[in-house]
Amino acid sequence: MKITVIGAGYVGLVTAACLAEVGHEVLCAKKSTRNLDLLRQGISPIYEPGLSEMLQENLKKEQISFTNDIESAIKFSEVIFICVGTPTGENGNADLTQVMDVTSSIAEHMDSYKLIIEKSTVPVNTHLKIKELVEGRTGIEFDVASNPEFLAEGTSVHNFMNPNRIVVGVDSEKARKIFEEIYQPFTSQGYPLLFTNIPSAEIIKYASNAFLALKISYINLISDLCEMTGANIDDVSRGVGLDQRIGEKFLNAGLGYGGSCLPKDVNALIHTYKELDLDINLLEETMKINDQRREIFLEQIEKTLPDIKGRTITIWGLAFKPNTDDIRAAPAVDIVGRLNETGAVLKLYDPQAEENFSRIHPENSNLKYYKHRYDALKDSELLLIITDWDEFKDSNYDQVKELMASPVIIDGRNILDKELMEEKEFKYISMGR
Ligand code: UDX
Repeated sequence: MKITVIGAGYVGLVTAACLAEVGHEVLCAKKSTRNLDLLRQGISPIYEPGLSEMLQENLKKEQISFTNDIESAIKFSEVIFICVGTPTGENGNADLTQVMDVTSSIAEHMDSYKLIIEKSTVPVNTHLKIKELVEGRTGIEFDVASNPEFLAEGTSVHNFMNPNRIVVGVDSEKARKIFEEIYQPFTSQGYPLLFTNIPSAEIIKYASNAFLALKISYINLISDLCEMTGANIDDVSRGVGLDQRIGEKFLNAGLGYGGSCLPKDVNALIHTYKELDLDINLLEETMKINDQRREIFLEQIEKTLPDIKGRTITIWGLAFKPNTDDIRAAPAVDIVGRLNETGAVLKLYDPQAEENFSRIHPENSNLKYYKHRYDALKDSELLLIITDWDEFKDSNYDQVKELMASPVIIDGRNILDKELMEEKEFKYISMGR
C-alpha cells in the first residue's frame, strides 16, 4: 500500500521505516531540507538502535523515499500519517500549530479521498478541529482517524515491530478497512488491533503515558519511606511488582522521569481537565513528586560534598534514559545547570548525548566533556550516576576507585549493588535503599 508520512522526527521516522519494512511503499515528507541528504543515504539523524540499518535496507529496496515537497507527498497516497511535534504550549497545553499547518496543506493540495491519521499525540477531540478545517476548504471526501504511537525511545523500532497493541480510532467503515490492510502484516502475526471511536483512541495515549508517570512517582514516594525506615526500595518494588495485577515494569525508583513524552503528556492532560473544569490533583501531585526527585538528589550532593566550589565532580549519564541521545526534560540538564552555578568543576560523560547536551551546557572553564567514562574520573571527589546506561553497571569499580581522588558515588538510578560497593569501600549513596 502507498503511504505518506509527514514528519521525520522520532515518531515519523520510525513509523515510515517500519511501515516500509513490512512491505508498504512509503514516502516520508518533511518541511525543511535539513538532514534530507542524510536521510536519503539512510543515515538517521537521531540515535535509535536499528533505525539506520532499517532505513538503508528499505532505501535499497525502494520501499521508502524522502522529500521536502509536501504537495507531492499529499498527492502520493490516500493514507497520510501526521507525525509532527506537539510540544508543550504556554499554559501546559499541547501546541497544535504544526498539526494544523499540515492539515492546512492537506486541505489545500488533496485532489482525491484521503485518510488523515493523527499519529502524533493530540488532545481528545483534536480530530474535530482537523475535520472542521478540511471541510471548510474542500468538498472532496476524507476521513480522520487516531492511531497513537506507543514507542519508547531507545527501543522504538522493536516497539513498533512488536506492539503490545495497535490502537485505532475511526468513525467510518472505509477507514477501518484501510487500517486492516495497513496493519495486516502485524495482525497476521497475532498482534492485537483494537478499534475504538476517535476520542477514545486519543485518550488511550494520554491515559497510558500519565499512568506510567504516576507509577514512577508512586514508587518514588514509597522510596522516600524506605529511606526513612531502613527498608530497601529494590526489594519493595520486586515484592509489589510480582503481583501480576501491578506488574514489575516502571517500578524503578530514583531520579524520576524525563523525556519528550511523559512530562509533556501529563502537562497536556492536566490542561485538558482544567479546560473541562474537572479535578486533576492526582496528576499535579505526580508532577510535583517528579520535580522533587531532582531537588532531593541535589540536597544529597550538598550534604556529601559541602563547600562545593572548586571541588571536582564526575557526571555519568546525560540522556533522559539509556540507549538514546535525547536530553529533553532530562534530570541531568537541571542538575548540571545547578551544579555549574555553584562553581564546582564538572567532568561530564555520556555514550550518546554529549552533542545535544553541549548545546544547552557548552564547555567552560568549569565544565568539560570526556569521550571515555574513565577519563572523566581523574581527580574527582564524587561520581554522580544520572542515567542507567548498561556500561555504568558493567564498569570496573576497582579501576574507578583508583582513578578517583576519593571514592564517593551517588547513584541516582540505583543501578549498582549496594553491598558490593560498600565491600569495595566506596562511600555509596543511592535512593531509597
Ligand atoms: C514513553 C512511553 O513509555 C511510550 O510508550 C510513549 O510512546 C512515549 O513516552 P519514553 O519517553 O521514550 O517513552 O521513555 P520511557 O521508557 O517511558 O521512560 C521515561 C522516563 O521514565 C525516563 O526518564 C526513565 O528513566 C524514567 N523511568 C522509567 C523511571 O524513572 N523508572 C522506571 O521504572 C521507568
